[in-house]
Amino acid sequence: MTVSSDDELARLKQIGRIVANALDAMGKAIEPGMTTLELDQVGRAFMEGAGARPAPEMVYAFPGATCISVNEEIAHGIPGDRTIRPGDLVNIDVSAEKDGYFADTGASFAVPPVTRTAERLCRDGRRAMWTGLRQVGAGKPLAGIGRAVGAFARNSGYTLVRNLASHGVGLSLHEEPTEIATWDDPSERRIMQDGLVFTVEPFLSLGAEFAENGDDPWTLYSRPRALTVQFEHTVVASRNGPLILTMPGQ
Ligand code: CO
Ligand code: CO
Repeated sequence: MTVSSDDELARLKQIGRIVANALDAMGKAIEPGMTTLELDQVGRAFMEGAGARPAPEMVYAFPGATCISVNEEIAHGIPGDRTIRPGDLVNIDVSAEKDGYFADTGASFAVPPVTRTAERLCRDGRRAMWTGLRQVGAGKPLAGIGRAVGAFARNSGYTLVRNLASHGVGLSLHEEPTEIATWDDPSERRIMQDGLVFTVEPFLSLGAEFAENGDDPWTLYSRPRALTVQFEHTVVASRNGPLILTMPGQ
């Protein structure tokens, strides 16, 4: 969507804050020995307590309030009886709706004791996301995001998963503009209109190039198998640059 009024922006900020605080609460709740379903319930309780509806189950009938993906899983993992163990890499993706407006955020968390490799990957995954977000602004080319993130990954010796793109969001979970690459895409010609709402969510990896399905209809795995992280914010392209909607806070 493109934001056209202060009222719309206020509602987007409200749902943005809810998903950001839900993700924050879940990240703080991660503990070895808990199941991914128990972690999902932390997020569900937070969102429902704030009057929001978890988007994955509302929009796609996904079996969970949030997507929780551990180690070899990189996206759309189903909360269930998998136990979180020391050293795991846990990705949590939180999206929800309130008053007809949607926001989407995500982050990867390394469960102590953390290897230096996983710690570095998490740090650089967050940097990759911010590298993309700095390219956001009214009138700028969408291709700038993938160009900047692509250069960051290349220069730091990482790969990017190239079949999981960023996307428009706001009046639904996934909307126009779809398929926003967080890697170099010479065919991308679109310009960010003032007020455009979308996500920036690169998947940075120690070797994976693609995401592929496994045995269930949801969970995506890295191909080739390699540790992968994802960090995601919902952002508005404004005349003053990126306006991040999914910052935790009051
Ligand atoms: Co997401
Ligand atoms: Co998203």
